[in-house]
Amino acid sequence: MAESLIDLRVFADGAELARAAAEEFTRRAGEAIDARERCAVALSGGSTPRRLFALLADPAQPLRDRIEWRSIHFFWGDERHVPPDHPESNFRMAREALLDAVPVPAQNIHRIRGEEPDAARAAALYEDELRGFFSGAPRFDLVLLGLGADAHTASLFPGTEAVRERERWVVAPWVEKLRTFRITLTPAVLNRAAAVIFLVEGEEKAAALRAVLEGEQEGKREGGRDPDRWPAQVIRPESGEVLWLVDGAAARGLENRFNRS
Ligand code: 6PG
Repeated sequence: MAESLIDLRVFADGAELARAAAEEFTRRAGEAIDARERCAVALSGGSTPRRLFALLADPAQPLRDRIEWRSIHFFWGDERHVPPDHPESNFRMAREALLDAVPVPAQNIHRIRGEEPDAARAAALYEDELRGFFSGAPRFDLVLLGLGADAHTASLFPGTEAVRERERWVVAPWVEKLRTFRITLTPAVLNRAAAVIFLVEGEEKAAALRAVLEGEQEGKREGGRDPDRWPAQVIRPESGEVLWLVDGAAARGLENRFNRS
């Protein structure tokens, strides 16, 4: 990946990372609302964003009151094939850590219907939702993404066709290693975003981060770019920026060639 595209910021720990992410969220949401009177955000799932959500929701923190919650529309980058009250639901995590605590109108919350028995139908319904919200091509103001230890992001897993999807906006890949379907936005949507922020925390992500950013695994340069193997490499917004917010443990394996701050 051409280094000039990468803005990588390394923080001492997860708390500092979450604080920086909360500042970025607040600033970018404000800018989008100033420009377009609304902000469309796609949230990531998993555990890493929980601390960010809690910071944004915390009434004792200054950021909460700086955000025009009524003008933000919340979407998800992906969802597990489970009901919204299931412990593994990405929607549930965001609801409990953030949405229940801030004044977001119910009609601004656009969740993926993971409870749909037919995951492909859940994907089709979500594509309809996006088509209803965006006039023309979907352009999120901000997309939050995580990184799995296998270099997956959203639910774009290694070796799945979803990584190569360029037409459909939402698909429901079967993820063999998890023995389940997932519902995920595709690169066709993610790469139209104005800004993508990756949140990556923990030593267990170091090898994947190095592979994604340097195309290197086990110290051997592996030809740099292989999204089928390292799906997060497929995230290259056409006219948007990518920001990597990572902690020191995850950045441990990186050579220092990036725009580190
Ligand atoms: C999901 C996510 C997924 C996540 C990574 C990292 O539904 O699981 O959207 O892409 O971001 O798996 O997960 P952690 O933050 O839990 O390490």
